[in-house]
Amino acid sequence: MILAHNYQTGDIQEIADYVGDSLGLAYQAKATEADVIVFCGVHFMAETAKIVNPSKTVVLPDKDAGCSLEQSCPADQLDAFLKDNADKNYYVIAYINCSGGVKALCDVICTSGNALKIVQQAPAERPILFVPDENLGAWVMEQTGRKMDLWRGNCYVHVEFTRDSISKIKEEYPDALVVAHPECTQAVRLLADEVCSTEKMVTYCKEAPVENIIVVTESGMLHRLRRECPDKNLIAGPTDHCACADCRYMKMNTLQKLRDCLANLSPTVEMEESLRARAEAPLLRMLEQSK
Ligand code: 13P
Ligand code: SF4
Repeated sequence: MILAHNYQTGDIQEIADYVGDSLGLAYQAKATEADVIVFCGVHFMAETAKIVNPSKTVVLPDKDAGCSLEQSCPADQLDAFLKDNADKNYYVIAYINCSGGVKALCDVICTSGNALKIVQQAPAERPILFVPDENLGAWVMEQTGRKMDLWRGNCYVHVEFTRDSISKIKEEYPDALVVAHPECTQAVRLLADEVCSTEKMVTYCKEAPVENIIVVTESGMLHRLRRECPDKNLIAGPTDHCACADCRYMKMNTLQKLRDCLANLSPTVEMEESLRARAEAPLLRMLEQSK
C-alpha cells in the first residue's frame, strides 16, 4: 500500500494508492490489510502508521525527512515542562506533527483536519496545553473560544508567507478567493477566505464559485488540486522571496528513492513496544473522537 501526503511531488502522487492529509493517511494506515505500508511523507507520518498498525512493515523513501514542528518540541523538554507544572494538571493535546515520544506524553492527538472537534471534546475543567504549533493553536482558540497554553513551535514553511506577500498576489487577482493552512500566522490567516487542512482545500476549491483561487500552503498541494479541479486557476501563494513555498523535508522523497525502498523493503520504521503502546492510546482516542 503506497500512501502519499498532498505535499509529495506529482510523480509520487500519481503512483500512490491513496493521496491525502495527515488525518486521511492515519485512517488508511490503520485500516489497510497490506503487509507493507510505503509511506511517502515525512518521518512522523510513517511513524504514526507504525504506531497504529504495528504488525505491518512500514518503509519510507528517506528516513531523514523530518519536520520543523517535530524538532521544535523534543520529548525530554515536554516531559520536563509537564513535571515542572504538575500542579496545573494539564490536558495535553498534541498536533500529529510530533515524535512518538511526544505523542506518548499526551492525552489526545489532533490534525489540522479535526483540531476544532478534538479541542471541543476536551474536559471543560482541565487547562489545555497545546503542542507544538503555536499558529494552529492560536487559530483553534479563535475558532472555539477555548483558552489554551501554547508551546512555541511553528512550521518553517508556513511562517514564510507574510501579510505583504499575500496582499500583493491578491492585488494581482482581485476576484480570487484565498485558502490558507492553519499553520500560517494570524496576519496571513486574516487575509484568507477559508482556513483549513490540505484535504479540505480540495473540497473548498471544487465548490468555490470563482475561477481564481490563491492557495497558501506547500507547493505539492497544487498538483493534487490541479488534478482534482481542472476547471480552476490555482495560484500558489508566494512568500517574500519565492513564487511558492517548498518543504525541504517533504521534497527529500524522490521517485528513485521510492523505487529503492520498495525493492529493498528498507529503511523501515521501528519502535520500542512500550513507547509505541503509550503513543497509540492518544492516537486511537483521536480516531474515535473525530468520527
Ligand atoms: P495536513 O494534515 O493539513 O495535510 O497538514 C500536514 C502538514 O504537515 C502541514 O504542513
Ligand atoms: Fe513539517 Fe512544515 Fe514540512 Fe509540514 S510543511 S512537514 S509542518 S516542516
